[in-house]
Amino acid sequence: MNPKLYQDFLWGVATSAHQIEGHLQNDMTEWESLGRFRNNGHNPIIGNAVDHWHRWEDDFLLLKELGVNSYRFSVEWARLEPEPGRFDYNAIEQYRLMIDRLLEYGIVPMVTLHHFSNPAWLHIRCPWHCPEAADAFVNFAKVVSKELLKHVPLVVTFNEPMVWLLAAYADAKFPPGFADLRILSGALYSMLYAHRQAYDLIKADHPDIKIGIAHNLIIFKEGRTGHFVDSKIAQMIHDFYNMLIPRSFAENRIKFRFPLIFNINMPIELDNKIDFWGINYYYRMHVRFKPSLKLPFKLYFDQPAEHKKSDLGWEIYAKGLRRVCGWMNEFGKPLYITENGIAAEDDTRRVTFLTKHLNKLTELKEEFPKITGYYHWSLMDNYEWLIGYKARFGLCHVDFDNDLKRTIKPSGYFYRDFILSHSTATASAIE
Ligand code: FCB
Repeated sequence: MNPKLYQDFLWGVATSAHQIEGHLQNDMTEWESLGRFRNNGHNPIIGNAVDHWHRWEDDFLLLKELGVNSYRFSVEWARLEPEPGRFDYNAIEQYRLMIDRLLEYGIVPMVTLHHFSNPAWLHIRCPWHCPEAADAFVNFAKVVSKELLKHVPLVVTFNEPMVWLLAAYADAKFPPGFADLRILSGALYSMLYAHRQAYDLIKADHPDIKIGIAHNLIIFKEGRTGHFVDSKIAQMIHDFYNMLIPRSFAENRIKFRFPLIFNINMPIELDNKIDFWGINYYYRMHVRFKPSLKLPFKLYFDQPAEHKKSDLGWEIYAKGLRRVCGWMNEFGKPLYITENGIAAEDDTRRVTFLTKHLNKLTELKEEFPKITGYYHWSLMDNYEWLIGYKARFGLCHVDFDNDLKRTIKPSGYFYRDFILSHSTATASAIE
């Protein structure tokens, strides 16, 4: 390996507030209490997640132990602004302490402002398809910027906008629970507009900060090899799911057409205001034409051999990392792999997963020097959306029967050793 390959590279782990903190009230906990999260009849209960809000100091020792030099986490809007316009300064203070501790440990914080959850009041006043939602978010971002971002070099405005929009506006699985693509267009516009506004105001406060979006990317493959219609549809889904958002930044227009299903063509002044693209990469899916006017295709995981799928049935496809990085590289910005991981009870599967993906990353780093960081999902086992605690994504084990005790798994040590043998990292990667 070229000894300089990983110079200044950020090696991290990622989490999100809702999935780990506990002691929260937001739109997700509200839906849970109303019994509206029904996933095949199953209504997962979050409880107090893994109680990170009270145990963060110990959890940050785990970061040290893992040897990461960066940590991606989110601040919870509902906690910081429990009522519109009223901010909780105790919560702000705790996040400030957390950021200070990371800096003291030499761990670069990457702060996400929106990771799926919203204050419950947002949906009553103005769900995301109303323009006021963007204003509310921008106001929240303004306070976070002033109070918390002074020493933070990396900010993600939105985590996986496409995933959230589809869950909240097409599948009715997340609050506010719509199933209408026309309304989805409005929400997509608001989010991108909110990104642009937040970008400008955060930059005005902290000109050196780097601001991006963590974008989920999926490989869509035609269900039947060489099948013209399957490949045509796979291409259209790719254009929508993977490319629509990054292209909107480059073209100042949100533009996409899927005959009879979806049509959007709106100007938007994004002016390419994004400093990096985060890539969240997990799996490959297959696409087959299905004669139906409502949705003329079926999206599915192939039936790969056991060792090729996660506990959630997701098809593991390390080669795909090259393709997603290639697509995003075209936009000319620095790239961070902001999430990549596997749900696996059996930790040896995670070691295999890491080996494959990190080896692939090493190859790619030569080809795409713009890749500047890798964050494994996740630091520890946590609450997985719509599923609960059965999906274990952690490098650290959480014992749900024994006071949520944390233990670093062999995969955690494997990651630590990989980082050690592949880094000459310093924080200058973000300069
Ligand atoms: C991503 C989410 C993250 C986590 C992983 C498994 O889509 O961003 O919060 O749930 O999937």
